[in-house]
Amino acid sequence: MTGRPRRPGWVAVAAASIVVAGAIWLWSASLLPGSYPMTSMGYPDYGGGPSAPTPHGHGHSAGGIPVTQLVPDPARPADVRVALVARAQRVSLPGVGEFDGYTLNGSTPGPTINARAGDLVEVRVTNDNVLGGMTLHWHGVDLPNGMDGVAGVTQDAIRPGDSYVYRFVAQEGTYWYHSHQLSHPQVTGGLLGALIVAPADAVPRSVEVPALVHFYGGLRTINGVPGVVRSSARAGATVRVRVINTDQGPMPVWVTGAAYRVVAVDGRTVNQPPPVSGRAMLVTAGGRADLELRVPDGGARVEVAGASIALGADGAPSGPAPREFVDLLHYGSPLPPRFDADRPDRRFDYRIGRRFGLLNGRPGSWWTINDGMFPNVPMFMVRAGEVVRFSVSNVSGEVHPMHLHGHHLLVLARDGVRATGSPWLVDSLNVENGESYEVAMVADNPGIWMDHCHNLPHAAEGLMTHLMYEGYSTPFMVGGEHANHPE
Ligand code: C2O
Ligand code: CU
Repeated sequence: MTGRPRRPGWVAVAAASIVVAGAIWLWSASLLPGSYPMTSMGYPDYGGGPSAPTPHGHGHSAGGIPVTQLVPDPARPADVRVALVARAQRVSLPGVGEFDGYTLNGSTPGPTINARAGDLVEVRVTNDNVLGGMTLHWHGVDLPNGMDGVAGVTQDAIRPGDSYVYRFVAQEGTYWYHSHQLSHPQVTGGLLGALIVAPADAVPRSVEVPALVHFYGGLRTINGVPGVVRSSARAGATVRVRVINTDQGPMPVWVTGAAYRVVAVDGRTVNQPPPVSGRAMLVTAGGRADLELRVPDGGARVEVAGASIALGADGAPSGPAPREFVDLLHYGSPLPPRFDADRPDRRFDYRIGRRFGLLNGRPGSWWTINDGMFPNVPMFMVRAGEVVRFSVSNVSGEVHPMHLHGHHLLVLARDGVRATGSPWLVDSLNVENGESYEVAMVADNPGIWMDHCHNLPHAAEGLMTHLMYEGYSTPFMVGGEHANHPE
């Protein structure tokens, strides 16, 4: 038999070394520096609008007003004052057991902060012993950027022994707070709490039932209680249950024994919400839904998979999860538009995909934004006062709860179908695989704002970018002396 002549060995060696050299180059090119300004991340995307003058090439990292100046009137006295102490500790929750987690003032969830619309809320947080540092971010509150609580962007992580004061004017609605330093371990470990802002007028219209839902040690809890939570609401009472989803995935919530209305979503009132029965409401990860209902004589039960709130004596017996959902695209009644979303000053794509590559030297199948992998992602550049529109789409194979800081987005359409219901305003938008959304906003809150997936491991895997106003800058760095790691 005659075989093919064997290739000389050196060809194979040369080819192999080229491949190895290429791989090393790709690997090192994917490494993130130990410390870098978030504003130099990726590339500026002007969305078809005017670009900033670029004195030295990278226009989006040049000077401007530091975000630390974006704070409420420092001379205004606080109406609500709260002191919080953050601790890393062994936590024991009845019905859950013991685990290594985090507390605020000794408990997790931390204390519920209550305020009225228009109040100046002042929260002094002291980090007792959280070694990696911590911050508090006010999820869903459209506050001044300097108070946003993002380590490496709006402040340095608060080190053990240090304190930081957050001040903001409360807006009506249901919100929550959580650490935005090493978010995934710290939030899942319990460094979080509810923020409930009542309307400015003092008339109590309903019995208030906050319902912060969180997994501890694999068990789903409501306000830290696994299983059944009892409420003092009696038959005949009108109850407002403020559901807060602090976990990673979308969460169906439903009511057994009574009809309900979805009266607010992400802290924004729904206009003329009709009664719902036999349908569940899907609460986006990070998102909130306020459900209002009248407790009938036989009681009612507000349920999520694995936990529930009994209303009226023992509550109604538990019922199965409905298969149909409330569709906010067509729920409630429209209102005249507050801005012209059809003539935006800028239009951005936020296309979420996934492919194989290297993320900070680690090979894997990572998320992409507009085909680029972190940090090669767009920085959405805007000017104050502009109308901005985003086309958000997802072909990544998984659902992503997209959260924009400091703003509420108006949903215009989903999969090409226009919204016809109440204005649907979100800070956390559930984007399923295969879905696309058109959303718009007025750029009315200057600063540098994270725009990321609230499935927190996904954010840590690079599904994260920023909305940046022209003319602002941050003195803080990711990494660096304070080891800032917002994700
Ligand atoms: Cu609830 Cu960027 O976070
Ligand atoms: Cu995600």
